[in-house]
Amino acid sequence: MDAIRVSDLRKTFVVHESRPGFRGAIRDLWSRKRKTIEAVRGVSFAIPKGEICGYIGENGAGKSTTIKMLCGIMVPTSGTVLVDGVVPYVQRESFVRRIGCVFGQRSQLWWDLGVVESFSLLQKVYRVPLEDYRARLDELTERLVLQSLLHLPVRKLSLGQRMRCELAAAMLHNPSLLFLDEPTIGLDVLVKGEIRAFLKSLNARYGTTILLTTHDLQDIEALCSRVLMLDAGKVLYDGALEALKAAHPGKELRLRLSTPCTRDALDAVLEHQPYTIEDGGMTVRIRMASGAHTAAVIAQLSGVVDMRDMQLIETSTEDIVRTMYTGGAAQ
Ligand SMILES: Nc1ncnc2c1ncn2[C@@H]1O[C@H](COP(=O)(O)OP(=O)(O)OP(=O)(O)O)[C@@H](O)[C@H]1O
Ligand SMILES: [Mg+2]
Repeated sequence: MDAIRVSDLRKTFVVHESRPGFRGAIRDLWSRKRKTIEAVRGVSFAIPKGEICGYIGENGAGKSTTIKMLCGIMVPTSGTVLVDGVVPYVQRESFVRRIGCVFGQRSQLWWDLGVVESFSLLQKVYRVPLEDYRARLDELTERLVLQSLLHLPVRKLSLGQRMRCELAAAMLHNPSLLFLDEPTIGLDVLVKGEIRAFLKSLNARYGTTILLTTHDLQDIEALCSRVLMLDAGKVLYDGALEALKAAHPGKELRLRLSTPCTRDALDAVLEHQPYTIEDGGMTVRIRMASGAHTAAVIAQLSGVVDMRDMQLIETSTEDIVRTMYTGGAAQ
């Protein structure tokens, strides 16, 4: 059985628009202008148990809305959702004990309470047997290095410290599924690394299924075998990260020049390669096909520009994703 199965999922919001100014406010009293937002427009996918799947897309693509429907916080407009064989928004109480959620932008801890008091409240909310809770807490404290934080009030934690506590809070009841909506937002590279290592070990040890939303593609590279890319509420890509890279082969030749160059000079040599000129003519970026004869191109260029330095850069995942975002697909 798949851990998550979503079919033709849709979510439409109806929002009221305010007219500007005082007269507008008065008119709004009588009739409000309504606008429909189709946040999720027919999304289908299945995630097998034990998979770590990256859920990516531009701001406003519909990622958080999907995650909220999967967690049962939001009811879909249409379509079906099955998480661990359960319809999330129907069997709420039994369902929440099976999943863990971390929303990077929000906290599930109590601001004025000590961390351990928040944990202990969650133990009661999720009805975790005391012995299991203690064992879990010890394990999570060790793996997320929480010892020195447990007795601090949540409001005194730094962002990175709080996020480690949020992850522990989401895992106290040992859920088999974890939904993470931007868990690494605003964190430094060290904390990001610790969180990635924690998630990886969690998945390896307990086979936890993880759906991860992030704008940091290094999270995806480090953790996810599969990536789902959303564009304007529709799935733009669903597959292995490696396959995505293989489908967009290529490299970039980047030249730093000693004297500025012009398009006229370059056009004569670069007939087939698209290129851009930056820094007032001092930098040239040339897109090369993966099999292109780079040395020959450099030799030809050396006759028309004054080269100071050069770099050959393999197309990064970020480049590919940027191209796909700008190209779009969802019509
Ligand atoms: N409660 C709501 N009421 C009205 N519109 C909403 C609501 N929640 C989300 N939206 C709209 O739905 C669209 C998708 O929002 P969503 O938060 O799912 O995007 P996202 O992919 O998570 O973006 P981001 O990367 O910025 O977090 C946006 O246009 C947003 O304005
Ligand atoms: Mg979001």
